[in-house]
Amino acid sequence: MKATHLYLLLHVFLSASVLVHTFEPFTTALVVGLGATLGRTIYNYLHESCDSKWIALNATGLQVDLENKMFGQHIASRIILKAVNGFITNDNPKKPLVLSLHGWTGTGKNFVSQLIADNIYKEGMDSNFVHMFTSELHFPHSSHLDTYKSQLQQWIKGNVSNCAQSMFIFDEMDKMHPGLIDSIKPYLDYYDKLDGVSYRKAIFIFLSNAGGESITQTALDFWKAGRAREEIELKDLETLLSLAVFNNKKSGLWHTSLIDKNLVDFFVPFLPLEYRHVVQCAMAEMKARGHRPDRGVADQVAKDVVYFPKSERVFSVKGCKTIQSKLDYYL
Ligand SMILES: Nc1ncnc2c1ncn2[C@@H]1O[C@H](COP(=O)(O)OP(=O)(O)O)[C@@H](O)[C@H]1O
Ligand SMILES: *[C@@H]1O[C@H](CO)[C@@H](O)[C@H](O)[C@H]1NC(C)=O
Ligand SMILES: *[C@@H]1O[C@H](CO)[C@@H](O)[C@H](O)[C@H]1NC(C)=O
Repeated sequence: MKATHLYLLLHVFLSASVLVHTFEPFTTALVVGLGATLGRTIYNYLHESCDSKWIALNATGLQVDLENKMFGQHIASRIILKAVNGFITNDNPKKPLVLSLHGWTGTGKNFVSQLIADNIYKEGMDSNFVHMFTSELHFPHSSHLDTYKSQLQQWIKGNVSNCAQSMFIFDEMDKMHPGLIDSIKPYLDYYDKLDGVSYRKAIFIFLSNAGGESITQTALDFWKAGRAREEIELKDLETLLSLAVFNNKKSGLWHTSLIDKNLVDFFVPFLPLEYRHVVQCAMAEMKARGHRPDRGVADQVAKDVVYFPKSERVFSVKGCKTIQSKLDYYL
């Protein structure tokens, strides 16, 4: 379908070029102009560009993905759907969308960022407008702080100038130098424009383990009281989370004024995953690999995972992180 369409366009373009020689200058200019437009159309057809053909929120898609693909995160799912929907349907946002995702390792923070990207950008995480930064990979040496700072600022500015609807994901935010976080603060704020560039359509997502322990403690308290996990509400976590996060002297994020300047729009807690969620992850992974999901294998994988606290063994230490490699062994 795509190829035929393209072939037709090319055919018209080539015929037009041949005809150019037989017409007077005015027509020639017209045909050449038409050719250029056609050329641009073909180019946009094949190359990702910053327009609604390549960037558009599929709200249904995001909702369906959050419901079907993300396990055990009822609070995070709800906040993210509301936040992303509200932001993208607002034609005139006053600031970029800033989400801060918190929780134990392997609970789905990277995964949900990917779901968001998949449902906004046609190319998903491979989009030229989605940028992922990892402290250890991109900013490993604190002695190079000044270089990193100006580089990061240039990248953000350059990319947002190219496309207002750019997305930036910062993994391991708690390992990032406070100075580096400070350097991106202006872009998150309520400015109409900075040096002629508006950042108000961009999305920033910060991932960190900060606050993970207090989230886990709350989940464990509910479990011990015999209450359903789904009963946990955001308000049960909010105060603890902000306390843990404010008082964590080790994490760079909180030495900056990101929080007290209200630059973060949503704090999103990720609950630690239980045995049943690990089983779900294993089943989903088998399906993704084209195998028929086998509950027996999923149980084997889930039994092979380490749980904490030691006595009760309720939550998976690494969430669903090691499931993929464990499956290799069982399949
Ligand atoms: N809540 C979840 N629902 C579904 N899959 C998950 C979930 N949490 C983790 N996974 C799976 O485990 C992998 C690792 O999780 P990841 O999102 O990288 O964890 P982190 O919270 O450390 O960023 C993901 O790619 C995904 O396949
Ligand atoms: C949006 O997502 C839904 C559910 O995944 C899918 O059926 C639909 O085709 C998507 N729409 C577009 C425009 O991609
Ligand atoms: C956009 O960001 C990437 C890093 O993800 C960087 O390599 C690139 O140079 C940036 N582009 C511009 C125009 O600044």
